Amino acid sequence: MTSDDSPSIENLLANNAAWARRVETEKPGFFRTLANQQAPHYLWIGCSDSRVPANEVVGLAPGELFVHRNVANLVQLADLNCLAVTQFAIEVLKVSHILVCGHYGCSGVRAALHGDRIGLAEHWIRPLRSLCEEHRAELDALADDEARHARLCELNVLRQSRNLMHTQVVQDSWARGQQLAIHPVIYGLKDGLMRQLTDPIVSNEQAIALLHA
Ligand code: CO
Repeated sequence: MTSDDSPSIENLLANNAAWARRVETEKPGFFRTLANQQAPHYLWIGCSDSRVPANEVVGLAPGELFVHRNVANLVQLADLNCLAVTQFAIEVLKVSHILVCGHYGCSGVRAALHGDRIGLAEHWIRPLRSLCEEHRAELDALADDEARHARLCELNVLRQSRNLMHTQVVQDSWARGQQLAIHPVIYGLKDGLMRQLTDPIVSNEQAIALLHA
């Protein structure tokens, strides 16, 4: 242990070796098989928050979930990283589900709500400031700050799902009849539960209807 009681890198390496042994004992040949190919059916777009571990939350093993995470789970059309992950997931891995997973208690969303000074990350969460302003009347009508924060976390997931629908790669996949469902979901830090915010979005027609709802 280091002075602040967090595990040292040696601890992490020991943890890793123990984990690899355990997995290989339970499923002999697991790593050799996995090393040859990955064929996940799911792409996860979530927050970098350490309290929302993608695979664990949905009970998926290595090889079953393709993951992209950033602060406040944003899908920005100028973000080459997110777009490249999405394109690779849809066109090469041929995932059929994308979970856009936000979480209650998101610090990035809170900073946007309060206009906190957080340095460079302020630029990153700028779209959330705009989202906040767009929904100012709805947010102001809520009982307290906790309710406003929770609602903005939900609105964020819906907006990022909408941004995702607008990407060329998603539009093209639906146009050529590829099976692809977008699931706007939100995770609760206090109960560990993930909830669906809307039905899955599976077509351009449905996406358009949702945008005008
Ligand atoms: Co977060």
